[in-house]
Amino acid sequence: MRTQVVDHPLVSHKLTTLRDVRTDSPTFRRLTDELVTLLAYEATRGIRVESVDITTPVSPTTGVKLSTPTPLVVPILRAGLGMLDGMMRLLPTAEVGFLGMVRNEDTLEVHTYAERLPDDLSGRQVYVLDPMLATGGTLAAAIRFLVDRGADDITAICLLAAPEGCERLENEIADLTVPVSVVTAAMDERLNEKGYIVPGLGDAGDRLYG
Ligand code: PRP
Repeated sequence: MRTQVVDHPLVSHKLTTLRDVRTDSPTFRRLTDELVTLLAYEATRGIRVESVDITTPVSPTTGVKLSTPTPLVVPILRAGLGMLDGMMRLLPTAEVGFLGMVRNEDTLEVHTYAERLPDDLSGRQVYVLDPMLATGGTLAAAIRFLVDRGADDITAICLLAAPEGCERLENEIADLTVPVSVVTAAMDERLNEKGYIVPGLGDAGDRLYG
């Protein structure tokens, strides 16, 4: 598994306001949207393209276009929904699938309550959107779901990650042969006893949607 922390002053600036407990929901939603677009720029560096011949007003030339089948974007409900618009701004032709997953706040076990994905993901690149990689349980379950459907290249875009969660995720998907990447705006210090990322930003779902 490849983990990339996007080190950029604009990302750090927006993330700092996002973390601030005084930031209200409308501002939190706007900043999430802006951050995702910045992260998506890095996360799509390996997106598949094919060459195409075009003619400019001056001369013929060769360029590239996104390969088919188009990438699939999968926000993990509920908090991942706050990242969808920012991602689609960069990839307007992508298809979108949905996974609804919630973590039991006492046991930290993950429950999948909704799934609306194409049946066959063979040969598809998939971008998973989830703001928090805390214990890693949600992302591990989501990735396994996608690989079982045939996805062959998965990139998760997160706002924050915890080292413990990354380690668990790496262990839980060690048997998979498909490439998996995590792109995050920051790698925080640790998890607290409740499984929250420290210093983190609190509960992303609550801050986005109340
Ligand atoms: C949060 C967050 C991630 C998950 C991360 O969602 O948005 O999906 O927890 O935790 P993990 O890495 O320990 O599995 P939550 O379960 O609170 O649901 P929500 O998005 O509906 O608020």
